Amino acid sequence: MDLQTSLLPSMAPPQANSGEESKLSPSGLPIREIPGGYGVPFLSPLRDRLDYYYFQGVEEYFRSRVARHGGATVLRVNMPPGPFLAGDSRVVALLDARSFRVLLDAGAVDKRDTLDGTYVPSLSLFGGHRPLAFLDASDPRHAAIKRVVMSLAAARTPRHVAPAFRAAFDAVFDAVESGLAAGGGVEFNKVNMNQMLDFTCAALFGGVPPSKAMGEGAVKKAVKWLIFQIHPIASKIVKPWPLEDLLLHTFRLPHFLIRRDYADLTSYFSAAAASILDDAEKHNQIPRDELLHNLIFLTIFNAYGGFKIFLPHLLKWLARAGPDLHAKLAAEVRATVDNDVIITVSDVERMPLVKSVVWESLRMNPPVEFQYGRARRDMVVESHDAAYWVREGEMLFGYQPLATRDARVFDRAGEFVPDRFVGDGEEVRRLLEHVVWSNGAENGAATEGNKQCPGKDMVVLVGRLMVAEFFRRYDTFVAGVVEMPLEPVVTFTSLTRAGAGAGGARA
Ligand code: HEM
Repeated sequence: MDLQTSLLPSMAPPQANSGEESKLSPSGLPIREIPGGYGVPFLSPLRDRLDYYYFQGVEEYFRSRVARHGGATVLRVNMPPGPFLAGDSRVVALLDARSFRVLLDAGAVDKRDTLDGTYVPSLSLFGGHRPLAFLDASDPRHAAIKRVVMSLAAARTPRHVAPAFRAAFDAVFDAVESGLAAGGGVEFNKVNMNQMLDFTCAALFGGVPPSKAMGEGAVKKAVKWLIFQIHPIASKIVKPWPLEDLLLHTFRLPHFLIRRDYADLTSYFSAAAASILDDAEKHNQIPRDELLHNLIFLTIFNAYGGFKIFLPHLLKWLARAGPDLHAKLAAEVRATVDNDVIITVSDVERMPLVKSVVWESLRMNPPVEFQYGRARRDMVVESHDAAYWVREGEMLFGYQPLATRDARVFDRAGEFVPDRFVGDGEEVRRLLEHVVWSNGAENGAATEGNKQCPGKDMVVLVGRLMVAEFFRRYDTFVAGVVEMPLEPVVTFTSLTRAGAGAGGARA
């Protein structure tokens, strides 16, 4: 059990908003009623959805409510999509580093069907199966599937990720350079998007990539399938906003529109992952069909819900940091690896600044910003200054960027500090406890009994390879950054090839 969560079954919780205030929590904090509220049924969740997406934006939505309640970071709020897609929009929001940790404690929260928050996509999108990420850690199927995924990640990460990433990196930056040579800026996100599915498949399975096996349409089909799952929580895709709200947030997109695309994806994956499926079947670990749909889910969800978001954030911070940091990174990379070899896991392990920059980017912008879980029983949740009763079955929700930018844990918490995690001393270890993008501490590990991401080491490696390959190839760069809800749009305007010097060969 996590230290921040005290399960106190013997103490009866007060009724929500009853005005009752009582006792002290085990660490001596006053136990208070959770401030905030849910307003008028149906109308308030609707109004809150518009604030959240269009009138305030996500960060302001939370910050304004924290301010309204005297700085309290545990609050009752509605979360979108609300009517008609979600039956119940009411959550207890945990908006500081301390209370957030409850969500990482498999003993405290039940995470069945909570991946996307207050609504659950139709299981027909996943061949009728409930993917691993939607299973609670206590479900026996969770352990069985996670075991297979953890061994896949462990088998592929050390040797296959680096060459697969190098191929994707070369393709992306060859395209960016040609675009720059043709004049004008080049949007990284678009070029990267075309490579992320091939890359994730090559990293996990090898063999023929989807773009070759399925043709140009592979990316479109994969992205379309993802949109069918997450449209209720997506925004700024369709204009004008009232039309978007109607199309994306009010009803489920009909499944028949995606059936054929998903069938094509399924036949690609059943060939690409055949040896893993055979192996699991041979050892009677999990039915072939269920594993197949799990592999489709984890590959596409992480290509487009993970890497596609993570890499632009990383480049955004590098762009903003400017030439001094670029020079330090280039010096570290070039002192560690020779020109033109594929940079490996052990190479990047010897690059302390590169490692720190990647962790700092994951701290500032955890690619998956929202975590949810239902309280397994009545309990007290502690924030820094107060404690709160939560009742069994209540939906807990954490907006992670507020937790990982908590000034009570990190100095200059809202700033990107490139060398924050350099070294392996006690202080760095303590801080890494609070880098939780993987739904667990950065110095923890995925297990069959927790909900931490089994791709964690692979993701961190990809970030390090991105920085290392980049600063071996380039001395510095300039890019414009426009923040958008899902990921920043990064547009390169100049790339200076290694050794080209000021004003030298720029792409
Ligand atoms: C940048 C890329 C990635 C990000 C940001 C990411 C993030 C996450 C997060 C936040 C969770 C927990 C979700 C929740 O329950 O609230 C998770 C779970 C999971 N991730 Fe990742 N992930 C990434 C890449 C990968 C990769 C490459 C794999 C493939 C091995 C993977 C496989 C999974 C699986 C199977 C789960 C469910 C774990 C469980 O239910 O116990 N992820 N990931």
